[in-house]
Amino acid sequence: MVAGKNVLLGVSGGIAVYKAIALTSKLTQQGANVRVMMTPNSTEFVSPLSFQAISRNSVYVDTFDEKDPTQIAHIDVADWADIVIIAPATANIIGKIANGIADDMLSTTLLATLADVYIAPAMNVHMYAHPAVISNMKQLEEWGYHFIEPGDGYLACGYVGKGRLEEPAEIINVINNHQSIDPFLKGKKVLVSAGPTREQIDPVRFFTNRSSGKMGFALAEAAAKRGAEVTLVAGPTEMEVATTAIRREDVTTAEEMFEAMHQHFPASDIVIKAAAVADYRPKRVHHEKMKKQEDDMFIEMQRTKDILQSLGDIKTNQYLVGFAAETSTPLKYGVQKLTKKNLDGIVINNVSTEGAGFGGDTNIVTYVNKHQRQEEIELSTKQEIAEKILTFIDRDMKDEAQ
Ligand code: CTP
Repeated sequence: MVAGKNVLLGVSGGIAVYKAIALTSKLTQQGANVRVMMTPNSTEFVSPLSFQAISRNSVYVDTFDEKDPTQIAHIDVADWADIVIIAPATANIIGKIANGIADDMLSTTLLATLADVYIAPAMNVHMYAHPAVISNMKQLEEWGYHFIEPGDGYLACGYVGKGRLEEPAEIINVINNHQSIDPFLKGKKVLVSAGPTREQIDPVRFFTNRSSGKMGFALAEAAAKRGAEVTLVAGPTEMEVATTAIRREDVTTAEEMFEAMHQHFPASDIVIKAAAVADYRPKRVHHEKMKKQEDDMFIEMQRTKDILQSLGDIKTNQYLVGFAAETSTPLKYGVQKLTKKNLDGIVINNVSTEGAGFGGDTNIVTYVNKHQRQEEIELSTKQEIAEKILTFIDRDMKDEAQ
């Protein structure tokens, strides 16, 4: 929460500077101690005096304007800040931080601070889409900087599109939500499996299923954001991980997924099996492409190992979560899987419901823990569902520890 925190607001030079005045006002109203640091370019839009009047603190602009000889101002303020917000953040300041450039007071302070930094970009739609800006933002995200996405709408340059500084109230909302996340997962080892498996018939054919991997990737990313050390075992999928904080291991078959999961299982604290694993594979894999015949063809299938069951059987202190994809009486079958596979929680989804199941961006699920406590999650994005599932796991693990 921003209340009671030391907040450094970094203002860089774009037309949206005027919104930073409203942001300063809202931050002080919420009980934050606000100091403002402006780039020289931003002072072309608004005078430092406006920020001084609202923050009731002098405004920093010049690195060499050392008012107190007992301190070095940019280091002092870098240490003082609990939270740094850069709003508006131009392509220029984003580029400077991403490349370690420190040629004015704001960029220098940003290199020196250990505070949480939130960046709210505002720029022309084409600048925002430029590969250099995208690559700089990606780099910063990997280093742990948080971005507050700009909104869509009319831009001062006359274009309509993405690039409008997010509204001050929403910027504070995002920061408050982020700051209130319990660091419970920090340092915990989380193992997630995602996507389908692929079982070869011959060199050009295989059996698979419609799993996209989106749910498992969302879980891995949500856990990484909460500070967990995440290993993601992924079946064949188009998905990419948005952060290098996740260790990804690609596998193809159920057998390879079995091996990878068992390798990482002993050292894991939380294991989430979101993958849609093939239950059967062709008994015989043909090394030459199979030729068609006049008659019908029968392919004999053999059972794969049930990975989740095998993990449930050897579980010690891991919190183990499975998924159940059902088309009828989901709760009944889901709860049966929870008990039979010795799980701590199960995410049950009725894959035949509109908005739920494989491939899509949304899902509707019920989370049931081993004490049969049930939580319904209404139609939500897979990212929102991932956040909620982690919150339930977090709650159960804390209850267990008491
Ligand atoms: N699972 C697994 N290994 C398998 C099959 C499934 O680890 N060979 C896991 C899935 O990752 C999922 C859970 O078991 O977390 C339930 O998968 P689901 O397909 O719903 O159920 P099955 O156990 O395969 O049972 P059924 O097909 O009879 O519904």
